[in-house]
Amino acid sequence: MMTPEIIEAVRILRAGGLVAFPTETVYGLGGDATNEAAIRKIFYVKQRPMNHPLIVHVADVAQLTDWALDLSPKIERLAAAFWPGPLTMVLRKKPQVSPLLTGGQETIALRIPRHPVALALLKAFDGGLAAPSANQFTHISPTTKLAVEEELGGKIEMILEGGACDVGLESTIIDLSGNIPVILRPGMISCDALQQVLNEPVFNARSEHKVVAPGNHGLHYAPLTETVLMKREAIVSFLSNLMPKDLPLACVLHHDLNLSPIAGVQMIQLSSDPHHYAHDLYDTLRSLDHQQLKKILIEAVPEDTNWDAIRDRIMKASAKRER
Ligand code: TXA
Ligand code: MG
Repeated sequence: MMTPEIIEAVRILRAGGLVAFPTETVYGLGGDATNEAAIRKIFYVKQRPMNHPLIVHVADVAQLTDWALDLSPKIERLAAAFWPGPLTMVLRKKPQVSPLLTGGQETIALRIPRHPVALALLKAFDGGLAAPSANQFTHISPTTKLAVEEELGGKIEMILEGGACDVGLESTIIDLSGNIPVILRPGMISCDALQQVLNEPVFNARSEHKVVAPGNHGLHYAPLTETVLMKREAIVSFLSNLMPKDLPLACVLHHDLNLSPIAGVQMIQLSSDPHHYAHDLYDTLRSLDHQQLKKILIEAVPEDTNWDAIRDRIMKASAKRER
């Protein structure tokens, strides 16, 4: 739908400005992917190192050939199954694609998001939008317009409203540029789901190889408050030996610990369903981060593959910061 907001957003983007927009995963910070000045602005505004490549968002599969070489049947199968949706494909790039987008690599990350505002914007813009998550480098990705304002307010021309993001975690990234498909970043589209559609093994970079998406390091997605990942039993024993220096604190749980209330301890009960948990995680961590807590304890989540993306993000959220 061509709303006045979309028309204004397209005007800004064509002039080389930046517009944050909702996607079903997290809000993105969009700029014209063919405009090097706009791309540089994205890195500058986020304070993101230039060697961390960006994802180019497009409205439909026909646009892939503007960016990527040779579309294989594998790519077409994945596109048919998961696009528009929370999947990013890393493909071999066309020579004319700016190295600023790709961190100097020979591959380009591409995605068709399914949020109606993102699709309306991409259709009206009629080109590729480079869009990293709309947060400062190393901060938690924003899942509401308010969170984008907190991260980038005053630094970008416009923020489009799209409500709370459906999925709540960044897209699954699959690298199809080599012989074997490799997941570079787990997301809510699982390894199993990808294997089923491709009908071949898909590797997990994190567990089976040491390949990682550049910029996918431990400082991402972290609250500023000290955040610790603990098994349920460890949380229970920690809470039974509390010291005044630990308070106030919050526990982020995925099932009820059945404890009586403890002064200074906030129990946040997220869902035991991974999709609902994912939807609420970043917003919960962001609001806890505003509360001057001494600590955030996050309960370790189940080992099964439906929790892979969540396990990845809470491990990063609890990674020790360099001080
Ligand atoms: O859900 C999402 O993917 C969101 C929304 C806005 O679409 N975007 C997002 O972008 O999470 P960003 O920039 O925060 O994360 C992009 C990730 C980075 O980890 C980057 O290293 C990886 O994609 N990436 C981009 N291009 C790549 C490439 N050519 N090869 C390997 N990894 C790449
Ligand atoms: Mg990001």
